Amino acid sequence: MTQALADSADSAPAAPASERVIIFDTTMRDGEQSPGASMSHDEKLELAKILEDMKVDVIEAGFPIASNGDFEAVRAISGIITDSTIAGLCRANAVDIERCAEAIRHARRGRIHIVIATSELHMKHKLQMEPEVVLEAITRSVGHARNLCDDIEWSAEDATRSEPGFLRLAIEAAIRAGATTINLPDTVGYTYPSEYAALFQDMISTVEGADGVVFSTHCHNDLGLAVANSLAGIQGGARQVECAINGLGERAGNAALEEIVMALKVRGDRLPYVTGVETQHITRASRYVSAITGFPVQFNKAIVGKNAFAHESGIHQDGMLKNRETYEIMTPESVGQAASTLVMGKHSGSHAFRAKLKDLGYELGQNALKEAFGRFKDLADKKKHVFDDDIVALVDDALASSADKVQVKHLRVIAGTEGPQQAFLTVTIEGVEKSANATGDGPVDAVFNAIHAVVPHQAILRLFQVHAVTEGTDAQAQVSVRLEDDGRIATGTAADTDTLTASAKAYVNALNNLFARKEKSAPGKVASGF
Ligand code: KIV
Ligand code: ZN
Repeated sequence: MTQALADSADSAPAAPASERVIIFDTTMRDGEQSPGASMSHDEKLELAKILEDMKVDVIEAGFPIASNGDFEAVRAISGIITDSTIAGLCRANAVDIERCAEAIRHARRGRIHIVIATSELHMKHKLQMEPEVVLEAITRSVGHARNLCDDIEWSAEDATRSEPGFLRLAIEAAIRAGATTINLPDTVGYTYPSEYAALFQDMISTVEGADGVVFSTHCHNDLGLAVANSLAGIQGGARQVECAINGLGERAGNAALEEIVMALKVRGDRLPYVTGVETQHITRASRYVSAITGFPVQFNKAIVGKNAFAHESGIHQDGMLKNRETYEIMTPESVGQAASTLVMGKHSGSHAFRAKLKDLGYELGQNALKEAFGRFKDLADKKKHVFDDDIVALVDDALASSADKVQVKHLRVIAGTEGPQQAFLTVTIEGVEKSANATGDGPVDAVFNAIHAVVPHQAILRLFQVHAVTEGTDAQAQVSVRLEDDGRIATGTAADTDTLTASAKAYVNALNNLFARKEKSAPGKVASGF
């Protein structure tokens, strides 16, 4: 009875430490390193809260030396998160480590994560360091970090292609210098499960001091093996898994958090290890990450895909009606993917709306609640059936744009087979109205040209993506726009029953995020036109 097993994990007594697997989320660090997946400061704060609600053990919030934005995000997250440990990444040098220590200074539980490569290939060509010099750097950097923080993770970049004898020496140096977690990344997604399990078994049984530290996996998905390798690593003795929501990460991504957590939960018979993750928050986290990065979740993606719990064929539907376990190894509810239910209509009151938001995992303050309720009423006027997914899109939209200085006020578009298509747009810029009209090669182009006319800017459009939040012709369109300017990337999102309005709002949201980012890195110097 797989489901019984899956459910019983929730009420199980606390597991012995040896069976508990620490979930280390790196969506905001390794995930954000994937091209185009940048997140704004406020989005990172919101994501950190979602991860904490999910009871993720460690949140890697950024790489503080990489930019002021990363530093500020790690610092701000350290200030608001109390339950999860906040980690910052750094290279094995004093400048990186001190910047990281400063960023996590106010964390209730902070961790410094140091990385240095140990494979011959990386040491020779990338670091251009002799192996003995790498060993010295490990001892020095870990020792320095340990004087600043008690919780030190050390990572052997490209561990799976490192010579085992040297890797052993490097791990021993890190442990002697005070590392508390030893991470053996499969940096290039090259290993395969039995090999990775054997690496952990070998290191854990031969390294001096191994019994006093936690070993960790960190798997990339270049061969599609990241989750399988992570699970094999656990079987080999690792008790921390590094992973990311929706498998976000460099190149083909990292091991997907949701897949690892659910594999451990559903297959507790073969994998007798537990995590502390409250899995009903998974869908919300997945949707949020997808919305803020503009990276769609493939329909057939395990656990969080739109089709992950859909049953189309007659035979399957018949089986499901007789007994859900015929075709379901876990319930959609267990990952927070409740069947989209009809919620409320335009006569629903604010108390019912607030209760619904709570069910969906949102706790809004008084002002945000009032604003979201107003939007809900507007939507209920336009749309016959308002579903849970509509409310999620609406609230995420409100949260994403609440601090925007530029807001779309009116939009009228002339579209159709006879061009030119034309857009008439009014925005408010810090409360002051500004209008323009523009033509374009199609209505979306006309809308974006009108935005250019009211808010002149140099940004280049890198992504424009539309998907329907629910089914039906009156469904809300959820639009993601990604803009790039001078190497900076920002994503904007918006939902509306009118696709062109959603497009305008998403573009304007992306512009706001871009300007906010520029303003942060060069205060007072942003030639944004507002
Ligand atoms: O893939 C990798 O090796 C990394 C390290 C920084 C842990 O991301
Ligand atoms: Zn990585």
